[in-house]
Amino acid sequence: MSVKIIGTGSAVPKLRVTNEDLSRILDTSDEWIYSRTGIKARHIAVEETTAQLAAEAAGAALSMAQLAAEDIDLIIGATATPDRLLPGLACEVQRILGAAHAAAFDINAACSGFLFALNIVNAYLRSGVYQNALIIGAETLSRLTDWTDRGTCVLFGDGAGAAVVAADGAGETRGILGMVQGSDGGRGMVLSCGNRPLNNPYVNHGNETPYVDMNGQEVYKFAVKTVPAAIAQAVEAARLTVEEIDLFLLHQANYRIIEAAAKRLGQPMEKFPTNMQERGNISAASVPILLDEVNRSGKIKEGDKIVLAGFGAGLTWGAAVLGW
Ligand code: ACO
Repeated sequence: MSVKIIGTGSAVPKLRVTNEDLSRILDTSDEWIYSRTGIKARHIAVEETTAQLAAEAAGAALSMAQLAAEDIDLIIGATATPDRLLPGLACEVQRILGAAHAAAFDINAACSGFLFALNIVNAYLRSGVYQNALIIGAETLSRLTDWTDRGTCVLFGDGAGAAVVAADGAGETRGILGMVQGSDGGRGMVLSCGNRPLNNPYVNHGNETPYVDMNGQEVYKFAVKTVPAAIAQAVEAARLTVEEIDLFLLHQANYRIIEAAAKRLGQPMEKFPTNMQERGNISAASVPILLDEVNRSGKIKEGDKIVLAGFGAGLTWGAAVLGW
């Protein structure tokens, strides 16, 4: 028994905002943003919702998998930016797609969300509870960023990526070959965002709107240490070596973090495709959007070994090795 990704999809909003566009509304520059992050542009939701982007990505993944929405048993939405707190994103996607036979729920593991969702469906599918699952990383982070804070708002974008994951009879060299995940709540406040304050007849903490708050240097240190270690563990769990991995698809927070991870793993940057140049950091959507773009570009061949890795708020991290 193996558990395999059989379809991928992605969607981004229509509006493309370049670094030059941002320099017209903020005290920033293309030179500052690009040299520190690798980001040139990002897409920002104006007309689109998180659920619409998620459903568009999910529909594309279903078409590639040649499955109908009714064939899906389980939908997991990974997001920190649902349109509504209730109902959750996965239930909204279920409604839009008409996936009437699915159980649907959300998780929040921030930028690691897609990896955590993959780990959950791996367990469900391997145990025989379900046959076909849909996992979606979708964000409209533009609603959580303070657009007067040049230190954070330039980093993020909006969008969604999805994958159809199925239980398969294929042998041990296909599908999910190894996974690790971890969390360190003790360091959680280096990257945080509050919720609506408590406000009831017995207490009043005001109506302030909370925004993303980040200690960039601490996040950088966490990422360059934890990500290569998690990847090495997942590769070992898959009984492979990093030299045998064809592609490393990492969370697209920052080009310098990816370069540092490649260096620590002793692998060339050609094995690390990136899209943050055009997409920015889309938290839980980054990894599945990159996977879909690389998949549709024809860069993945049958039999390739691929690493997916996410890291972010929580702190959380996850890595998976796939045999394609
Ligand atoms: N444009 C121009 N100047 C800016 C901008 C901007 N957009 N943002 C900050 N600055 C200024 C600051 O005000 C500061 O000025 P000062 O020295 O006069 O006080 C100066 O640039 C340096 O600011 P730092 O915050 O120290 O900048 P740093 O060099 O650390 O770079 C960055 C910030 C790119 C975020 C870096 O810390 C980093 O790469 N961190 C990794 C974390 C990351 O990528 N997070 C993404 C989200 S988290 C995730 O997805 C896991």
